[in-house]
Amino acid sequence: MIRMLLALMVVCISFIASAQSKPAIVPEPVQMEMLPGKGFQLTVATSIVTDSSWMVQANYFQQEIARQTGLTLPVWAANDMKTPKKSAIYLVKDSVSLNRPEMYLLQVYQGAVKLSAAGVRGLVNGMQSFLQLLPLRVVTSIELPALSMLDYPRFTYRGMHLDVVRHIFPVDYIKKYIDYLTFHKLNTFHWHLTDDQGWRWEVNSYPKLNSIGSWRDSTLIGHFKDQPARYDGKRYGGFYTKAEIREILEYAAVRGITVIPELDIPGHSRATIAAYPEFSTRPDTTWNVATTWGMYNRQNNVLAPNAASFSFLRTVFQELTELFPSTYIHLGGDECSKLWWKQDPATQVFMKEKGLKDETALQTYFIEQVAGYLKESGRKAIGWHEIAEGELDTATLIMNWGNEKQALAAARKGFSLVMSPGKPFYFDHYQSKDPKDSLAIHGYNPLEAVYKYDPVPAAFSKEGLAHKIIGGQANVWTEYMEYSTKVDYMIFPRMSAVSEALWTPAGRKNYPDFLNRLEKTIIPRYQFWNSSWFPHYRQWGMRD
Ligand code: ACM
Repeated sequence: MIRMLLALMVVCISFIASAQSKPAIVPEPVQMEMLPGKGFQLTVATSIVTDSSWMVQANYFQQEIARQTGLTLPVWAANDMKTPKKSAIYLVKDSVSLNRPEMYLLQVYQGAVKLSAAGVRGLVNGMQSFLQLLPLRVVTSIELPALSMLDYPRFTYRGMHLDVVRHIFPVDYIKKYIDYLTFHKLNTFHWHLTDDQGWRWEVNSYPKLNSIGSWRDSTLIGHFKDQPARYDGKRYGGFYTKAEIREILEYAAVRGITVIPELDIPGHSRATIAAYPEFSTRPDTTWNVATTWGMYNRQNNVLAPNAASFSFLRTVFQELTELFPSTYIHLGGDECSKLWWKQDPATQVFMKEKGLKDETALQTYFIEQVAGYLKESGRKAIGWHEIAEGELDTATLIMNWGNEKQALAAARKGFSLVMSPGKPFYFDHYQSKDPKDSLAIHGYNPLEAVYKYDPVPAAFSKEGLAHKIIGGQANVWTEYMEYSTKVDYMIFPRMSAVSEALWTPAGRKNYPDFLNRLEKTIIPRYQFWNSSWFPHYRQWGMRD
């Protein structure tokens, strides 16, 4: 009976978007024009009519509209349709007028919505803008104002990273995270899959990477700098099976998201040498998988330059490329301590034989070997900015987690760059200075700083190097994020600011206006997703 009453109540609910005011969209579109005249009435009688090559995206769109509003719209392939529909959302392929990467045109008229794009990414981006026009509750009809939106991103690479080593998250959360990216019109998920504290993808060629390398005996409690250090004494770990990874890749592909896996070498390899000590500078040692954070120069975690290591690298990167279809494969290359190489006579002999003048040259040698293996499989290497320290081939893409100086040095050498500076794009840093805020890495990256960051520093434009920056990325290291709820708390609302910093033309960004749109359209979305977020962003700004 109660159910029937609820159903009756639902029948009467309709949603009327105001025709006068501009809808609040994040990221702010390049062009949005409100048109005179009647808008569009969306009801269950509305169909989705799609270019036949986009059926999976049309089905995704159908599900998202239904999840959000309760309206399940029938989907038709345009070439199967006998009679024109009275009320329809048309998904139209147009690569002639929509000639910028990921561009879309969304037109809302009386009787029809037309979403045009040249490819899947433009289409999915346009869907996200459309979904932001709809209410987040069950309704029977929606009145949308007449409008036209022509939109495209400022940068071609727009990424979010997630470390699943320090803490691992369920497959369903990885999918949810990919949905977060999709919603924010980001296009790349950088999946950090190996590190000192664990190996997180299934490998057949070297099975001890999973049986030994995927598990640690204990985990540090509290902050890395706390004295004395305390440990929980609990075995922790796991890895994603190949079947799970394929499922995630398929999920991402429907949404136009590229997944770049990272296998971090030649440092950050403690889990690898725990499984196979023969790849270390001390093959006679039994290493543990790391139980603490921040290993740099503190504990040996490097690969030794020997035949077994290079054979391993060739094989394991081959297996990785068989699993992941992305053009770019991330080989890490960050924070590689030179201490253990300096102390190892066999490494010194290898360097002499190869004419490598110092340990930085050896680091470059490792990167070049792996970049070569990737090239054989038709792939390209991307790595953290330290790999540009030596004389590396500039075909490798640099992900700069340092400051402007390091980025500029790499660009001057001829490298292209993705900007992911610790300040302000590291979301493991605090977003407040409240001593009671949930534990994070020391450092302060408030929402305002994330929003106002311009990935192209003035010095780049001055030197004619702006074109070297292909985009940006925010990074999520999870030492202090044991559960997905904490990840959500750390990324929201900062991820919404990244979305606009990487999409919207610099001249159209406006922080107070962003905060208003955030509160009108995006915070309700976090609630709808049942995701947590940091709520005190208005109290903590760049001046604090
Ligand atoms: C890094 O933060 N070590 C890439």
